[in-house]
Amino acid sequence: MTERQEQTPYLDALCEYARRKPARLHVPGHKGGPGADPGLLEAFGERALSLDIPALTYGVDVGVEPSPFEQAQRLAAEAWGAKRAWFLINGASQGNLAAGLALAHRGSDVVVQRNAHSSTIDSLVLSGLRPTFAAPEVDPELGIAHCLTEETLARALDATPGAVAAWVISPTYFGAVADIRSLAKVAHLRGVPLIVDEAWGAHMAFHGDLPEHALSAGADLVISSTHKIVGSLTQSAMLHLGHGAGEMIGEDTVDRAVTLTESTSPNSLLVGSLDAARRQAAVHGRELLTNTMAALVLARAEIQAIDGLDVLDDRLAGRPGVFAYDPLRLAVDVRGIAASGYELAPMLREIGDINLELYGQNVLVAVFGMGERGLPEASRLVDALRTAADRVGLDIDGAAASFAAAPPWGELAMTPREAYLGPQEVVPASQAAGRIAAESLATYPPGIPNVLPGERLTAETLAYVQNTLELGGSVRGASDRLLRTVRVVLES
Ligand SMILES: Cc1ncc(COP(=O)(O)O)c(C=O)c1O
Repeated sequence: MTERQEQTPYLDALCEYARRKPARLHVPGHKGGPGADPGLLEAFGERALSLDIPALTYGVDVGVEPSPFEQAQRLAAEAWGAKRAWFLINGASQGNLAAGLALAHRGSDVVVQRNAHSSTIDSLVLSGLRPTFAAPEVDPELGIAHCLTEETLARALDATPGAVAAWVISPTYFGAVADIRSLAKVAHLRGVPLIVDEAWGAHMAFHGDLPEHALSAGADLVISSTHKIVGSLTQSAMLHLGHGAGEMIGEDTVDRAVTLTESTSPNSLLVGSLDAARRQAAVHGRELLTNTMAALVLARAEIQAIDGLDVLDDRLAGRPGVFAYDPLRLAVDVRGIAASGYELAPMLREIGDINLELYGQNVLVAVFGMGERGLPEASRLVDALRTAADRVGLDIDGAAASFAAAPPWGELAMTPREAYLGPQEVVPASQAAGRIAAESLATYPPGIPNVLPGERLTAETLAYVQNTLELGGSVRGASDRLLRTVRVVLES
């Protein structure tokens, strides 16, 4: 990394503005502290409030070119190896929304990995793009969805001759990483860009022992949730344009899409945190990640030593849809003990105030940051797991339990946008078969949407969702979480 990466131009400009104690004849109304509620002042501290300034502040975002804001984005592009980077203040969700709007300039069809984040589906609603969904591989043992294989992507693209892009997710929540190099080749051979939702992989650019990150593997537009593991403030993220995107994705088009999807008052603390997190990753990422990964190796071994528990790790690589494994998650396989992930999560909270990122029937996911110093949380998790496992005992048949495959998703009768915006009504689930859904239904596990807006509901799918709920699973996206009713399109 270059010496430039030691610098934090935006953060420095922000601090300098606060230090000068300027006349703040601008928003926000708390005026850097004096106008704030005393409770807020005490909780956040005067320092944080003094750094909360509006966009277009002279010497920070505007003034001499390139402004500290522009310099900070350039440093981020350099650190991740992008042609251009945009700071996002509405999360990776904004990155997905902007990606869809940018792509819609090129045409109306797109290939999308089916287990996309809800913000990708929202992006289809906003952009009006018509999706051809490509199914991820489902792990038959763990009951979780992995990534796309190149064969699946090739089939989906061949079935969608006018596709403007292929839009995939890697890594998954559980740490499975796709073969982005091959997926990029498949897309580029057909003249379309590869969009990668790498929300969970912003750290992967900073350590050679981690799986190759998407930009380096040839992706053209990468959505990166910097706050998740790299450690900027919650809600801050980045969107990266690849050097190879060329004519396939217009830089100006992305720029306008980013502007359209964000507030005109981006929070300076979020932006400053992106600048700082980039420096930490670029300058110290290797060392921090080395320590965190070493500590996680130990934590994994301790969990495996608990009777009935196992962990997800490198052994997953090579299974269908898993090219490599990102170790910055500690995913615990709980099938061998007599409690599901749904039962264990509250138990762990009660035992050790353990608060997990995610849990499903078979797997619990604890997320670790790039710079966990010493990793005391890992031993807390291990101790609480040991207590919980002792309490519930073993489940002799649990590890062999497998999941019934979900029925195929229904025909796309209209675009997600048409279904979302069209006239709708709520009907009893028992009368919903044959109707067009106006909302999503995604059962967990394995988290692949069973129904998306615009798709025709089938009796098999409705029965499958109901059955998952009866088994203790959950459904996301539904306005009625118990699926007594479903929101459907009113067809004339
Ligand atoms: C794959 C994926 N993409 C996008 C997002 C949205 O990220 P953010 O919360 O930063 O908006 C998430 C959030 O969990 C995600 O898992």
